[in-house]
Amino acid sequence: MTAASPNNPVDLADLLAFYASAGVDEALEDAPVNRFAEAVPKPAERTPAAAPRESKAPEPATGPPRLDARALPDAPAPRPPTSAVPDEAQAALARQLAMTATTLDELRQHMAAFEGCNLKATAKNLVFADGNPQAAVMLVGEAPGRDEDIEGLPFVGRSGRLLDRMLAAIGLDRSSVYIANVIPWRPPGNRTPTPHETEICRPFIERQIELVNPKVLINLGGPSAKTLLNTSEGILRLRGNWRVHTTGSGIAIPAMPTLHPAYLLRTPAHKKLAWRDFLEVKAKLREVS
Ligand code: URA
Repeated sequence: MTAASPNNPVDLADLLAFYASAGVDEALEDAPVNRFAEAVPKPAERTPAAAPRESKAPEPATGPPRLDARALPDAPAPRPPTSAVPDEAQAALARQLAMTATTLDELRQHMAAFEGCNLKATAKNLVFADGNPQAAVMLVGEAPGRDEDIEGLPFVGRSGRLLDRMLAAIGLDRSSVYIANVIPWRPPGNRTPTPHETEICRPFIERQIELVNPKVLINLGGPSAKTLLNTSEGILRLRGNWRVHTTGSGIAIPAMPTLHPAYLLRTPAHKKLAWRDFLEVKAKLREVS
């Protein structure tokens, strides 16, 4: 068998087909970056006990044609390492940065400077928030998708357009609500954020809620509800019932868990349930304002 060549169009087509079938449909850099290698200490930093035994890395039995980035012309220098695997030290730093932010602007700056979440390494933009920070209603989704990553704003893709229509149905729009996500960086390929990634990002969204101090919180989808309402119940059981989100300083904010717009696009028969939840929010707003 001859080795795959970066100059052979057939090899390149095979490689692209392999990536597409694995769900890798977007290139973030001109050259691949091995994030796992970044997490491994440099040889000089390794303790003798941690030094690996001399062995040749096993070749995969099957797989795509292997292309070496160094063989490609004009491959950029590798980026400086960021934390590839979130750890407790980074979670503690996230808590400290969140706690010390006294305004939303400061919080955004702290998040933009934070290097402890691996999702930042593959995201194009920090997706901090959209809408009015003085709004009575704050909505929190799960994580940005492709369109949000490109624009740096939450809910601007297909599910965002549905969300806008849902808000309009109860007389709200982006000037009368504030929108953010539990995770502010797009997970690659829109995969589900890991529990570790969620824990790293949790202090930021909790502080964001505390600083906005809305009268009503809407949790869009199960991950937002579970993370912010301290429950493991499924969204179909949670939705439609008022819960409470308690901020770090002990303020209790009424929270309505509802179905995520992306779910509603896939399951339009359930739009009527979300409609009922939004009517609950409308009634609550009359009560509290
Ligand atoms: N889904 C989310 O949860 N958040 C977004 O910003 C977009 C889609």
